[in-house]
Amino acid sequence: MKKSSILIAGGGSTYTAGIVVMLLEAKETFPVRQIKFYDNDKERQQKVAEACEIIIRERAPEVAFSYTTDPEEAFTDVDFVMAQLRVGKYALREQDEKIPFKHGVVGQETCGPGGIAYGLRSIGPIIELIDFMERYSPDAWLLNYSNPAAIVAEGTRRLRPDSKVINICDMPICLEDIMARAIGLKNRKEMEVRYFGLNHFGWWTSIQDHAGNDLMPKIKAHVAKQGYTENTPAGQHKEESWLEAMRAGKELLEIEPAFLSNTYLKYYLMADETVEHANKSYTRANEIIDGREKEVFSECERVVQQNSAKDTTFHSNEHASFIVDLARALTFNTKERMLLITENNGSIENFASDAMVEVPCIVGKNGFEPLTMGKIPTFQKGMMEQQVASEKLAVEGWMEGSYQKVWQSITLNKTVPSAKVAKEILDDLIEVNKPYWPELK
Ligand code: NAD
Ligand code: G6P
Ligand code: MN
Repeated sequence: MKKSSILIAGGGSTYTAGIVVMLLEAKETFPVRQIKFYDNDKERQQKVAEACEIIIRERAPEVAFSYTTDPEEAFTDVDFVMAQLRVGKYALREQDEKIPFKHGVVGQETCGPGGIAYGLRSIGPIIELIDFMERYSPDAWLLNYSNPAAIVAEGTRRLRPDSKVINICDMPICLEDIMARAIGLKNRKEMEVRYFGLNHFGWWTSIQDHAGNDLMPKIKAHVAKQGYTENTPAGQHKEESWLEAMRAGKELLEIEPAFLSNTYLKYYLMADETVEHANKSYTRANEIIDGREKEVFSECERVVQQNSAKDTTFHSNEHASFIVDLARALTFNTKERMLLITENNGSIENFASDAMVEVPCIVGKNGFEPLTMGKIPTFQKGMMEQQVASEKLAVEGWMEGSYQKVWQSITLNKTVPSAKVAKEILDDLIEVNKPYWPELK
């Protein structure tokens, strides 16, 4: 059985330890011979790496482990690069959230002007990862979680169209696990879904069990009552700010009763309420800095201090299982059906062929094949056309250093009321993003 070599890029991420635990748990069905970390923040990565080194030593001493900030050392001899960069870190995420709020607009990591700002920071570093990978391990795949995945995917489509890159998102599968548990199934793997949209902008049109029975009525009954909230502590996204997004599933079902909506549609369809209810001086970035980030790094310190991870709280989760499933499908030709972000090319029949969409794909040794989702209704088509135009203008704005195009990108975003407000937000974003953005003229 082939044993893979994995590079985690963004080794200092709060998600890294979960992926390492998952890789070790999956060793019967996806064996690894080597795990490496790469990051451009040496100190941050080292803290995570020292804890993961102990986890690997205790659970799978045969797996080689190393970490580095040197691209050649990192990218040589790898089969998969699992990327999770946060360009500009939480400090800039805080600005992405607070600047739009200051102007009365949704401030969010990946949606609205904040997502566009994050996109303009991320395109360059992701292209850099692809180039390192192709130089040192030309046969490897880049499996990319780095956000904003929609804009990053359009960037990779425009700038590296022939590269082995797959952009992915964990939100649909996390929601599917909630739906599955809500109707008494073990998890999402007992369901087969049809889904269409853009990243963080999509809808389920059908959910069946493997015998072909329609599960939508039961799931909708749950969502109509309590959105995507559930009465179990299992899974990711359980903090209060996330539960608010989960509850919005109920209103989203009223807006589109035929389908089940991704929670991220809340920021576009319920923008006014989102702004009204938000704590604009203490946003999600602040919550994470005081929460998940602190917890991860203090757990790393604890593991290192006691020189054992036997009782560690680090555990695998949906996020980790999805990227490992993808690597397994590519390695062993499992033909697993997975939601990926891909060039449309007719998968959604009445939508632009060059749009990056999120649809179910069959994954095997030679890559992936999107399934056809057919024609979509006018409401979704209209929303998606506006959003995809906003995303494309952001990428073109980055490529051309065009102030005009980035301004138009923000103006076109459904979260933004006018060109005037878009300009005010853009001018504030330019100030804080100077170290990361091209100069816009
Ligand atoms: P984090 O800040 O804890 O980790 C990101 C790491 O990336 C940091 O250690 C940072 O130093 C490193 N980094 C930043 N720029 C880099 C560069 N140019 N080169 C190398 N390393 C660089 O962030 P996090 O909260 O753990 O999230 C990591 C990423 O994963 C984010 O982009 C987040 O949005 C994304 N994410 C995506 C999904 C999805 O559904 N696609 C799900 C969860 C997280
Ligand atoms: C979901 C999305 C990711 C996003 C994450 C943010 O999992 O799919 O794309 O990065 O939520 O979670 P956070 O806890 O950082 O707000
Ligand atoms: Mn996502």
